[in-house]
Amino acid sequence: MSMLARENSDLVEVEALRLLRLLMHVDCSPGRKWNMDTCREIAPLTLEINRLKKARNAVILTHSYVEPEIIYGVGDFKGDSYYLSKKARDAKADVIVFAGAVFMAETAKLLSPGAQVVVPDRQSGCTLADSISGAELRRLKATYPDAVVVCYINCTAEVKAESDICVTSANVFDIVAGLTEKQVLFVPDRLMADNLRTDLVRRGVDKEIISSDGTCIVHEEFTATQIAEARKLFPGARVVAHPECRAEIAQLADYVGSTGAMMDYVRSTNAPYYLMLTECGLVSRLAVEDPEKNFIGGCRLCPYMKLNSLEKIRDALLNPRTDQIVTLEEELAGRATRCIDRMFELAA
Ligand code: 13P
Repeated sequence: MSMLARENSDLVEVEALRLLRLLMHVDCSPGRKWNMDTCREIAPLTLEINRLKKARNAVILTHSYVEPEIIYGVGDFKGDSYYLSKKARDAKADVIVFAGAVFMAETAKLLSPGAQVVVPDRQSGCTLADSISGAELRRLKATYPDAVVVCYINCTAEVKAESDICVTSANVFDIVAGLTEKQVLFVPDRLMADNLRTDLVRRGVDKEIISSDGTCIVHEEFTATQIAEARKLFPGARVVAHPECRAEIAQLADYVGSTGAMMDYVRSTNAPYYLMLTECGLVSRLAVEDPEKNFIGGCRLCPYMKLNSLEKIRDALLNPRTDQIVTLEEELAGRATRCIDRMFELAA
């Protein structure tokens, strides 16, 4: 073996060990079991991506739902939509790779317009974002001309451009409760709107919430039976839910919050078991970062988030195809950015 080949194989071995230490706790990746052999298989790719990242002055933002080999192998920042929006805004990078959903990458482009923003897979969509167009929102606005328009971040730039304020699951309840307007047109998540109404009643805040009809295909599926069975089989289990779940689920849960807040809740409590009512990627993150905790199966996979892969990230960094590059029309981008800036002001 030549000196160069030996150095390379040493590097791969060190990288495989680094990956194994992190990934060995993960057991919800579909069809993947992390051991030294599987870590050796991906180590050349994570090394290549990390080299490309430096060469292109790139940063990789990873939502907690994408596969853990992406988050821990090549990601620079990991978290929920709010956290990643701040990281996109503050990035000093020439290139931002967003491993998440396309609407998140669009948001990154709005917040860092000078950077080239790329998506590993253009099909990594979101049923919420697909549920309403800018034209449909304009029609709703004409029906409710006095309402303040609040968009959940899971929507297209076109819908953001028609909205007054953007929110994420990390700040939706506080921001809406603090608005002076009585009537709120909330798009696109009908189930989050239900949870918002409950929260406003709990706070004693009088508002009328009008919503459009979107739902998240992952969160709408959780059932009360699932919670009842978990509580029966695993006494003392804590149920932790995302606000995209149905109101009935949110009411039965011990805690409701953004994926970042759900992680903080698990880290700061000490229960024998946790039932995480969200996408399985979050359970993988917790398995890596809080390996002493026990998670009862129940999470669900998002088929869109799972389209992200190391190979596609490498291709997007090396030589991005046009469909991987996020572009936004300037005038629309200007309007869309305003509602995100309003969120930063109100959340601060
Ligand atoms: P978070 O911002 O809580 O991570 O939610 C993003 C999302 O798309 C949930 O389905």
